[in-house]
Amino acid sequence: MIETITQLAVLRERIRQWRREGQTVGFVPTMGNLHAGHYSLVKLARQHADKVVSSVFVNPTQFGPSEDFTRYPRTPDADTSGLQAAGCDVLWLPEVEAMYPFGVPLAANVHVPGISSVLEGACRPGHFDGVCTVVTRLFNQVQADVAAFGKKDFQQLAVIRQMVVDLHLPTAIIAGSIVREADGLAMSSRNQYLSEQDRATAPVIYRCLLAMRDAALAGVPRAQVEAEADGMLRRAGFEPDYAVLRSPDFNAPQDGHEGPYVALIAARLGRTRLIDNLEFDLPG
Ligand code: PAF
Repeated sequence: MIETITQLAVLRERIRQWRREGQTVGFVPTMGNLHAGHYSLVKLARQHADKVVSSVFVNPTQFGPSEDFTRYPRTPDADTSGLQAAGCDVLWLPEVEAMYPFGVPLAANVHVPGISSVLEGACRPGHFDGVCTVVTRLFNQVQADVAAFGKKDFQQLAVIRQMVVDLHLPTAIIAGSIVREADGLAMSSRNQYLSEQDRATAPVIYRCLLAMRDAALAGVPRAQVEAEADGMLRRAGFEPDYAVLRSPDFNAPQDGHEGPYVALIAARLGRTRLIDNLEFDLPG
């Protein structure tokens, strides 16, 4: 039976007890409104640890002033039963006052320079500071051996990996594959904001990523791949923030560069902002 914990002292005692018993601990941080993508991370954490903690905390510091913090979907009952079915041992449900004891304006901030300022960071200033700030707190609270993050938030995963190395945090990061609907749409809590019509259009993002990959593999220059992707999204009714081909370090590769690539898209459809990505290799 999953145990829901709302007090840090209780969480620490449970983890101390597991440690005394020689058990390892996996962690899956979330903002709730969980779907199959989150549950796949719980199962992945289970493969790497004896016990799994998952947190649900809608983190105010990672939302911009015009973003969807207050309307972000909160579904505690469904989350609890879904986590239990996925094999989670503890649901950690901290209060905002416990997470930020001096209040949000006085919160000690964690900033990872460089990588946090491109793409998502450029479109959502301060977003990754909020993510790193809360993930550092959560890591200090849970003190897990491993923590699982989804590849759908490709840049978030890279920022957290850099933060963990740079701050010598003792939690190893493991990455879970993107989980998609049957029509290719990447699972996301934000998909439920889509109108019926927009939901039918949304898989164009994945088709666009596949087209970017195929064009890059066929030797089409990067600038042309990106321009064609932008056009494809706009014709379908999206307002793209970016549709780019990058190396995994987020630098723009030279045309013909061999090795790993990632195609990344962020685009608005109506009031909903969707992100997705596709990794591939350009063979030598
Ligand atoms: O990916 C998310 O859901 C959030 O950014 C995270 C990592 C739980 C931090 O609030």
